[in-house]
Amino acid sequence: MQLGKIVYQSTSKLGKSFVFRYPITSDLKSVWAYINTLSKEQTYITWQGEEVSLEDEQKWLDGEIKKILEGQAIQLFVIVNEKVVGISGITMRERAEKHVGIFGISLAKDFRNDGIGAILLGTVLKEAGKNLEDLKIVTLGVFGNNPVAKNLYKKMGFVEYGNLPKGILHQGKPVDHLYMYKKI
Ligand SMILES: CC(C)(COP(=O)(O)OP(=O)(O)OC[C@H]1O[C@@H](n2cnc3c(N)ncnc32)[C@H](O)[C@@H]1OP(=O)(O)O)[C@@H](O)C(=O)NCCC(=O)NCCS
Repeated sequence: MQLGKIVYQSTSKLGKSFVFRYPITSDLKSVWAYINTLSKEQTYITWQGEEVSLEDEQKWLDGEIKKILEGQAIQLFVIVNEKVVGISGITMRERAEKHVGIFGISLAKDFRNDGIGAILLGTVLKEAGKNLEDLKIVTLGVFGNNPVAKNLYKKMGFVEYGNLPKGILHQGKPVDHLYMYKKI
């Protein structure tokens, strides 16, 4: 796997041209702005308004690049006009769980509900099949009050296997945290 490699490019139903590619170190400022915008929005991600420092983002990006190079993660950035507008990936667990990968996905507000998420998920699974040797099961957590994501995951073959009632805070309020999996 090559850093920066473009794995998919197309135009959305609404006419937006986008690229999916592996990250590069110079994505730092763009991905940092992206995560802070999403955190402020308090959408369905674990950052709920906290500010991410540039130093922490650098550590995250360096760590992801290292894992990608070691065959322990897939991370695709959605790029539009040279800016990061989405991220999705799978990170492998370790030791007794080394056959399990954890999936995550997010898109910037202006790029949702346009079919990009479904293509991105499919592309990440395809890349994972090629690059994550030990992967047998993909798992994810989803906010119980996020119908768009729940539907998308079901459509792509994920099955619900658990619910931690009021297990996650959305905009400060506890909601169910649902767990889903898909066999590879
Ligand atoms: C979840 C997310 C990645 C999905 O990507 P997306 O590009 O918006 O999704 P798509 O457009 O590919 O598909 C959305 C599906 O949900 C459906 N949908 C839209 N609004 C809906 C609603 N209120 N209830 C149920 N389904 C809905 C759409 O019709 C579409 O289904 P279809 O393709 O069968 O018509 C994106 O919305 C996002 O980043 N949201 C914020 C962060 C987030 O929720 N991350 C997931 C964390 S688990």
